[in-house]
Amino acid sequence: MITNQKLYIKTWGCQMNEYDTSKIYDLLNSTHGYQLTQIIKEADIILLNTCSIREKAQEKLFHQLGRLKKLKNMNPNIIICVGGCVASQEGDLIFQRASNVDIIFGPQTLHRLPNMIDQIKNKRSKIIDISFPEIEKFDRLPDPRAKGPSAYVSIIEGCNKYCSFCIVPYTRGEEVSRPCDDVLFEISQLATQGVREIHLLGQNVNAYKGMTFDGGICSFAELLRLTASIEGIDRIRFTTSHPIDFTDDIIDVYEDTPELVSFLHLPVQSGSNRILTMMKRSYTIIEYKRIIHKLRKARPNILISSDFIIGFPGETEDDFQKTMQLIYDINFDMSFSFIYSPRPGTPSSDLIDNISKDEKKQRLYLLQRRINQQAMNYSLEMLGSIQRILVEGISHKNIMELCGRTENNRVVNFEGTRNMIGKFIDVKIIDIYANSLRGKFIKTKNNLMLIN
Ligand code: SAH
Ligand code: F3S
Repeated sequence: MITNQKLYIKTWGCQMNEYDTSKIYDLLNSTHGYQLTQIIKEADIILLNTCSIREKAQEKLFHQLGRLKKLKNMNPNIIICVGGCVASQEGDLIFQRASNVDIIFGPQTLHRLPNMIDQIKNKRSKIIDISFPEIEKFDRLPDPRAKGPSAYVSIIEGCNKYCSFCIVPYTRGEEVSRPCDDVLFEISQLATQGVREIHLLGQNVNAYKGMTFDGGICSFAELLRLTASIEGIDRIRFTTSHPIDFTDDIIDVYEDTPELVSFLHLPVQSGSNRILTMMKRSYTIIEYKRIIHKLRKARPNILISSDFIIGFPGETEDDFQKTMQLIYDINFDMSFSFIYSPRPGTPSSDLIDNISKDEKKQRLYLLQRRINQQAMNYSLEMLGSIQRILVEGISHKNIMELCGRTENNRVVNFEGTRNMIGKFIDVKIIDIYANSLRGKFIKTKNNLMLIN
């Protein structure tokens, strides 16, 4: 095993990419002893885990590769690897645009990296592997290692929905669920390492259909219940779900499973049925509202967040107003909202885009302003309340403080002691900001038990 070799990883994009990045590090650390570095100049391997969801995200890769030219000229032994969705989408075109790249791998072939790196070291000039070998990747990865009290676990890879604007089904392949027992085993391994919160991941987690040991099929609702029954797991989050697969059995889990948090990210994309049809989303606004209505019956305090696309080709002022109306009606908390970006090869990229850039920017501004106001109102309601937070570690804002997350997904910074990290504690919310809250450690029964 080589030691003292350094690995630099840059990650763009979704939580799935963050998850893949942490798996890549675990893998290369266990096979080659690579240590992570934040300093790109001292790296022996530079790995760029890319995103192609919008054009801007994709262009970031080529800017970065341009900057790496000098480094590679100075030290030709540096190995540069490009992974993720741009790798999958562009393939060997990346070699043509950036001759300093050594390895191109896809989201489903990252487990083959140790072998690819060995080949490059044995003087092979360039390697590309962006195939979709089913779910093989999970069988080849080392045991999970907890990096804090909250951990991601991928349960389903790829997507079959083919929304007309989206590149993901082409870059990440068809939907494949991991076997149920593999998922549960990974979660229990993490729980024994102190993980208290599990974040189930997938493009469409609620399409999950995992094989069970006896040849049966485990649904997403069943998986949620099984996860909740694992000793030590007290909070469950998931991203992302699709309204079309949000069946009543999932809503039932909200009724009887307190481990499932009162926060849901359920992307709607638009408030106009006409645009939803063009997007091939397969639901109507009434259907979306029905889901939220049932959820709020089960969990009156649940906060709902969403993704929105602004300026889809042909979006009229009337369509946009319908989106604004929906935002008001549902009273969304937070959103990921972006201007539509045509992706080559997707059906909607052929549609005529007749909305001016200024108009799109104005609509996005109005939408984000409205949602930020709503989020602020929810935060205001929390002011003065006592919230149970899972303490994740040192605050990103101030190294003298700690940070944690409330059940409804607000980040709370507070003064505390290191022995609180990894535990659930109660704080009083004493101040609110745009992106976080400020808490104060208080004397509750739970807290006194923890510190004594
Ligand atoms: N099921 C996944 C979808 C991944 S894409 C999830 O929700 O995490 C994430 C979001 O990116 C989508 O919900 C959509 O709002 C946005 N998006 C996808 N393609 C886009 C495009 N071509 N232009 C702008 N936004 C896009
Ligand atoms: Fe993309 Fe639609 Fe799937 S947004 S990831 S094709 S659900």
